[in-house]
Amino acid sequence: MSLVRLKNVSKVYDTGGVAFYALRNVNLSIKKGEFVAIVGPSGSGKSTLMNILGLLDTPTSGMYELDSRETGKMSDDHLAEYRNLKIGFVFQNFNLLSRTTALDNVSLPLVYAGVSGGDRKARAQASLEEVGLGDKLNSRPNQLSGGQQQRVAIARAIVSNPEVILADEPTGNLDSKSGKVVISIFRKLHKEGKTVILITHDRNVARNAKRIYTVRDGKLS
Ligand SMILES: Nc1ncnc2c1ncn2[C@@H]1O[C@H](COP(=O)(O)OP(=O)(O)OP(=O)(O)O)[C@@H](O)[C@H]1O
Ligand SMILES: [Mg+2]
Repeated sequence: MSLVRLKNVSKVYDTGGVAFYALRNVNLSIKKGEFVAIVGPSGSGKSTLMNILGLLDTPTSGMYELDSRETGKMSDDHLAEYRNLKIGFVFQNFNLLSRTTALDNVSLPLVYAGVSGGDRKARAQASLEEVGLGDKLNSRPNQLSGGQQQRVAIARAIVSNPEVILADEPTGNLDSKSGKVVISIFRKLHKEGKTVILITHDRNVARNAKRIYTVRDGKLS
């Protein structure tokens, strides 16, 4: 049974009266617990695909089933709720709140999920320990290295225990050593049974996954 299933998904933009296919008839099936990489050059459609998989954007045509639910039939509110429940995001530029400690950055998704204060703190701390930052709970982003900031972002992505971790160029802003640490965390999460979808233009990074797809001109192979 697939956790993620795309059937004939296209994303079409109207560029001055001309239809531009950012994605063209994409079919994709990912099982629970898989570690999949999606590679492709700049402009090939990777982020477009990530936004659809993460329920941040909707296909122009085709079907997206996440955990056996057809997402095309959901209202915007329901989509947002489903996204918070199922997806943990990691982006290239970390997206942390700059004046906020690591612990509070990681706690934030739990505020939206309605978890009580004490529980939030304990879970955020456990997530930060999971990524090796148990000694940086009270540090703000500007007191952390790029690699450490990305590890905070991963802790934030996993704190609500989502079904799928979606990472778009998570090592794109990191030196190779910090990149390796970040990738080792994704490998560990996969070993623990998490489903990880890693988007990258770097084949060496992609090699860590068990299955590699390529996007070219909006087509997946
Ligand atoms: N809102 C939009 N309107 C028109 N074209 C768009 C829009 N958003 C994206 N595109 C086009 O869709 C294509 C795919 O973009 P996308 O951001 O998915 O590429 P990418 O593979 O993530 O590239 P990168 O590696 O540079 O991040 C690009 O050619 C882009 O110009
Ligand atoms: Mg992109």
